[in-house]
Amino acid sequence: MQQLEALSREAARLAGGAPSAAEAEAARVMQICNACRYCEGFCAVFPAMTRRLEFGRADVHYLANLCHNCGSCLHACQYAPPHEFMLNVPRAMARVRGETYVNYAWPQALGVLYKRNGATVAVALAGALALFLLLGLVMKGTLWGAIGGGNFYAVFPHNLLVGLFGPVFLFAVLALGIGVSRFWSGQSPGPASGAAIGEAAHDALRLKYLGGGHGEGCNNEDDAFSLARRRYHHFTFYGFMLCFAATCVATLYHYAFGWHAPYALTSLPVLLGTVGGVGLIIGPAGLLWLNRARHPLQGAPEQRAMDMGLIVLLLLVSATGLALLAWRDSAAMALLLALHLGTVMALFLTLPYGKFAHGIYRGAALLKWNTEKRQPSRLKLGDD
Ligand code: HEM
Ligand code: SF4
Ligand code: SF4
Repeated sequence: MQQLEALSREAARLAGGAPSAAEAEAARVMQICNACRYCEGFCAVFPAMTRRLEFGRADVHYLANLCHNCGSCLHACQYAPPHEFMLNVPRAMARVRGETYVNYAWPQALGVLYKRNGATVAVALAGALALFLLLGLVMKGTLWGAIGGGNFYAVFPHNLLVGLFGPVFLFAVLALGIGVSRFWSGQSPGPASGAAIGEAAHDALRLKYLGGGHGEGCNNEDDAFSLARRRYHHFTFYGFMLCFAATCVATLYHYAFGWHAPYALTSLPVLLGTVGGVGLIIGPAGLLWLNRARHPLQGAPEQRAMDMGLIVLLLLVSATGLALLAWRDSAAMALLLALHLGTVMALFLTLPYGKFAHGIYRGAALLKWNTEKRQPSRLKLGDD
């Protein structure tokens, strides 16, 4: 109870206080949009905006995480640069979104890792790769040759892997959980109904707001609509989920049934991992290509390194995982295993301090929107 109260006090502190330059810009932008309302049908940000007359810190934190950076309102806007209003909603929202990750981070001091995210990912990757390469060399003397004929635990014992990955993964869950609870406590959206939770999950799983107002897609390099970003994100998201499911099934096999890896190519964990791994190649490769072609006014240029960090890590995880599967009976197995484990560890280490946070915070903002829209508008101006 005391911890909950402390959390609420902390959230109130973060949601109150003087606005930062990015928050002030997002509030300015929303004031102009609230008078114009041309983009009302594009996404949830605009109908959520019309329920407000003022945009305090908690409001802009919410709207920034509700924005999917689809670019539609930038390309449609008559006040966008070079107009003197210099209105750029996706950029203003991206900057505040980045600040929310930093401010709500737990432990707070590590929030700085979001700001220098390219370096953070590079250091985590180099450190984790070095750890597994060295561990393998120290324990086995070599990472080449017939070390165990596809038997991964002959290289790195199962308990060692559980001891290394378990705490790092649990820490990531805890850190992201505390961060998003702080964000949520500052929002006070009221109780979420089952219907609101269901619709929020639906919006997140279908990436509704990367579909544009009429489902024709978002903008990338220009004002043409495309569903490519949504589709490549689906490959990425569902590929990631399938790989995660493969790990969960393998853990169940190990502890509940005593069936130990390596598993047959036709077994459930290998099938899930293979399909997921292929999705996790196609998706991030497509997102990488789209990211590089994106219109320079979309999003915040200083966050490109953070976007790239997650894309590159996901690509490395899937590429090394599939290579390990292909050559698991060869002399390269131990080396490939060390490389794969190193990249997975780097991903786990950076989960709470990188682009991955967007999924958690956007999920919370979608839940708030789906809760809020079921309540009568506080403005009583005839909104739904
Ligand atoms: C609630 C779940 C999620 C939602 C609503 C969501 C939504 C989005 C949206 C709207 C974007 C494009 C805008 C932006 O760059 O921020 C994006 C980008 C991205 N997402 Fe997700 N996401 C979710 C979960 C995930 C997960 C689980 C992964 C993979 C582990 C993932 C990987 C990525 C990557 C790599 C990008 C960067 C692509 C780029 O630079 O355009 N997302 N996500
Ligand atoms: S982005 Fe521009 S066109 Fe769209 S609502 Fe705001 S001011 Fe109007
Ligand atoms: S960029 Fe897209 S998601 Fe964000 S406010 Fe504009 S239309 Fe909505």
